[in-house]
Amino acid sequence: MNEIQNVKELLKKDAKENVTSSELNELKIKYMGKKGLITELQSKIKEVPNENKKDFGILLNELKTEFNTFYENEKAKIEKETLEKKLKSEAIDITLPSKKLKRGSLHPMTLITEDFEDLFVSMGYTVYEGPEIETDENCFQKLNVPKGHPARDAQDTFYLKDEFENFLLRSQTSTAQVRAMEENKDKGPIRIVCPGKVYRRDEDATHSHQFMQIEGLVIDKDVSMADLKGTLELFCKKLLGEKTEVRFRPSFFPFTEPSVEVDVSCFKCAGKGCNLCKQTGWIEVLGAGMVHPNVLKMCGYDPNVYQGFAFGTGLDRFAMFKFGIPDIRTIYGNDIRFIKQFDRKDVD
Ligand code: PHE
Repeated sequence: MNEIQNVKELLKKDAKENVTSSELNELKIKYMGKKGLITELQSKIKEVPNENKKDFGILLNELKTEFNTFYENEKAKIEKETLEKKLKSEAIDITLPSKKLKRGSLHPMTLITEDFEDLFVSMGYTVYEGPEIETDENCFQKLNVPKGHPARDAQDTFYLKDEFENFLLRSQTSTAQVRAMEENKDKGPIRIVCPGKVYRRDEDATHSHQFMQIEGLVIDKDVSMADLKGTLELFCKKLLGEKTEVRFRPSFFPFTEPSVEVDVSCFKCAGKGCNLCKQTGWIEVLGAGMVHPNVLKMCGYDPNVYQGFAFGTGLDRFAMFKFGIPDIRTIYGNDIRFIKQFDRKDVD
C-alpha cells in the first residue's frame, strides 16, 4: 500500500501540464512500460495478503486511471497543437496573384498533319495509321518491288537484326495501302489518308533519315486518272493557295501505272524563278499514280473490277514551305526555342 502511495506521489510531481510529446512517451514507459512502476505494482498483487488484496486492487486501479487520464489529456493536447501548426504552415493565400502557367504548343509537324487530315476528312476520307516497323513483304514485295529490284536501292535501309531480319523501319507510308486493302475483308471501296514517320538513309539540309509522309489511297469501281488529277489539284490549291498552278509529269513508281510526279507553281515567286524553285518556277510536291494491277491482285482485289489511285508526299517539305523552315534537321532537333515560334497562344 505504501508503495502505491509512493508511486502516486511521484506521479503527482511528474504529471505536469504541457509536457512535450517525447516527455509524454518517457512517462508512459516509466509507469506503464514492461518494467514500469504501475506494471510492477500489478505483478506484486499476488504477494499481498488476501485480506488486503481488495483495497490494494482499488488503489492500484485509481492510480492507473489517474495516469491514463493524464496521458490521454496530454496526448490530445499535443495532437491538437501539431494539427494547428500544420494547418498554419500549409495555409494558402488565395488572394496572391497566381504563377502564370506556360502552355505547350503544337509541333509544326503536328500542325501540318492536322491541316492535311482536316482537308481529306472533309472530302470523305478516313485517317488510317500503320506501324513503323514493317515486313519486307508489305514495304516492298506487295508493292511490286520483289527482292533484288533496283527500286529498293534508294529505300532499303534500316533492317532489324537476327530472327527479325525480315522486318525494317518502313521507308514509305505506301505500306499502309497494302495493309488497308488486305484488312478490308469484303474487298469494297477504300478512301484513306495515312500520315506517319518513315526512315531512309538520307541526311542533309533538305533530307533527314527520319521524316514524315502522308499517303492517300482510293479504291473503287470506275476510278480514273481524271479523279486523281481533280483530287490533287484541289488539294494543292487548298493547301498552298487558290492561285497555285499544278502540273503533272510522267514518272515511275513500281506500284502505280501510269505514274506521275506533281509540281506546283512556286509560291514564293509565283512561277517567275527564284532560289526556292531553283529558277525553274516549279516545285515538286507529290508522287502519285493509278494503283498497279499487280498490287491490287496481291492484296486480294480483282483489277478487272476495281481500280484505284494513290499519292504520297513528304509532310516535312510542306511544313518547310508553309513555315519558311530552311533546314529540315531543325524540325527534329528538339530545341524548344524552335517549337515556341509556332506557339500563338502563349504571350509572356
Ligand atoms: N511512296 C512513294 C515515295 O515514297 C510516293 C508515292 C506514293 C508514289 C503513292 C505514288 C503513289 O516516293
